[in-house]
Amino acid sequence: MQIVFLICAIFCVAAVLGSSESCAPGKRCVSYDLCNEGLLVDGHFYSDRSRTLQDEQHCHYMEKCCNVNETLSAGSGFNYSDSLSALPQCGGRLDLWLHLRPLGYKKQESKFGEFPWLVAIYGADGYLCSGALLTPLAVITAAHCVQDQVATDLRVVAGEWDAAVQLEPLPHQERNVSELLIHPNHTQSPAAHNLALLLLDSQEAFQLTPHVQVICLPPPQLIYNYSQCYVAGWRHSQFNGNETLPRRWPLYILPRDQCGSKLRLAILGRRYALNETLLCAGGDKDAIVCGDMGAIPLMCPLSGSNDRYVLAGLLARAARCDGPQLLSIYSNVKFYRRWIDQKLRERELDIRHYMV
Ligand SMILES: *[C@@H]1O[C@H](CO)[C@@H](O)[C@H](O)[C@H]1NC(C)=O
Ligand SMILES: *[C@@H]1O[C@H](CO)[C@@H](O)[C@H](O)[C@H]1NC(C)=O
Ligand SMILES: *[C@@H]1O[C@H](CO)[C@@H](O)[C@H](O)[C@H]1NC(C)=O
Ligand SMILES: *[C@@H]1O[C@H](CO)[C@@H](O)[C@H](O)[C@H]1NC(C)=O
Ligand SMILES: *[C@@H]1O[C@H](CO)[C@@H](O)[C@H](O)[C@H]1NC(C)=O
Ligand SMILES: *[C@@H]1O[C@H](CO)[C@@H](O)[C@H](O)[C@H]1NC(C)=O
Ligand SMILES: *[C@@H]1O[C@H](CO)[C@@H](O)[C@H](O)[C@H]1NC(C)=O
Repeated sequence: MQIVFLICAIFCVAAVLGSSESCAPGKRCVSYDLCNEGLLVDGHFYSDRSRTLQDEQHCHYMEKCCNVNETLSAGSGFNYSDSLSALPQCGGRLDLWLHLRPLGYKKQESKFGEFPWLVAIYGADGYLCSGALLTPLAVITAAHCVQDQVATDLRVVAGEWDAAVQLEPLPHQERNVSELLIHPNHTQSPAAHNLALLLLDSQEAFQLTPHVQVICLPPPQLIYNYSQCYVAGWRHSQFNGNETLPRRWPLYILPRDQCGSKLRLAILGRRYALNETLLCAGGDKDAIVCGDMGAIPLMCPLSGSNDRYVLAGLLARAARCDGPQLLSIYSNVKFYRRWIDQKLRERELDIRHYMV
């Protein structure tokens, strides 16, 4: 490990919100990014995220037990906003942020900023489900998540990671919903046209930052890469704990005919037709998308790009969890592109944000 003397500190917010607990004589718990220990690579400071016993015993997992004399002062240092210019228009994310999971990272946990368009949706009684940011004023989710809600009770939080604390390097952004649009032909049983738009007041647009970005929407004819997609979102059951991280699972989209009669019988019913309004996605058995996951986005890379994503689907029906292969049903977002465009255009919202 190399001690690097930075001119400035990185994150002011973390300093304000951090616990600043004294963890040893002459040391205190501070955000990783405010501890001047780490590596300088290509002019970028990567803080040391390894954990010592001292860190484990006395500090939150997002903090390090740092010498007071090596604690950086807030409000200066590496400016992540500078790297925003490197981002493509939609569906892009910064590699940089993938470094932000401390040791102990679990495979099924999403890292900070990994899916910067992922939002948490809350109703009057707490967390409802996850959605995706389409423009700074529009969020999409599944209709079944919000069908019993009124717009004025809904809140959307973007840039969130561990919902149990506020120690992230950049703060999350919370907004009220001003209009709720559920697809007019949505039916719960059979699950059809399961999607909804949540619109914000034009005065309350989300501010795009490295950890708050929009995802691309596939145009109706777009062929994207179906082989390495992800679903991600928070789980209800984790909202009472001391750590509320979004989960993520790799999945692939299956051709309609391969989805299997078994699945149809098991969760959809005998007469159910898997038509172009729906997608079927599968994954390994340990990739659990069963129960407990109100609505979550299904994201696939653009063809020829490993790191730019389109919104392929929204979880419409919980997965089949007992079979050898994990299967679940998603609204096929591509099919609804015209409806989405039309609703946003009617409100003079800029749809170029999500155009590939
Ligand atoms: C900070 O204090 C520690 C122990 O008190 C000392 O070993 C270290 O050299 C000091 N670092 C700086 C940058 O002054
Ligand atoms: C960071 O960079 C952005 C854009 O380059 C600039 O607007 C902002 O003032 C900078 N922030 C700080 C704290 O220097
Ligand atoms: C959101 O609504 C709540 C209650 O309706 C209100 O107290 C709060 O100020 C609103 N937030 C914003 C950002 O307008
Ligand atoms: C809803 O269904 C009706 C009747 O099938 C159809 O005419 C209409 O276009 C549908 N609405 C949307 C938004 O797809
Ligand atoms: C949360 O609580 C559990 C059990 O009490 C503990 O093992 C875990 O380390 C805690 N996590 C954090 C982030 O404090
Ligand atoms: C697709 O199937 C659903 C559910 O069975 C049905 O409501 C819908 O009309 C079908 N859509 C098309 C385009 O066939
Ligand atoms: C799709 O993604 C897989 C896995 O990342 C990759 O091997 C393949 O080359 C990609 N295909 C296209 C057409 O980009």
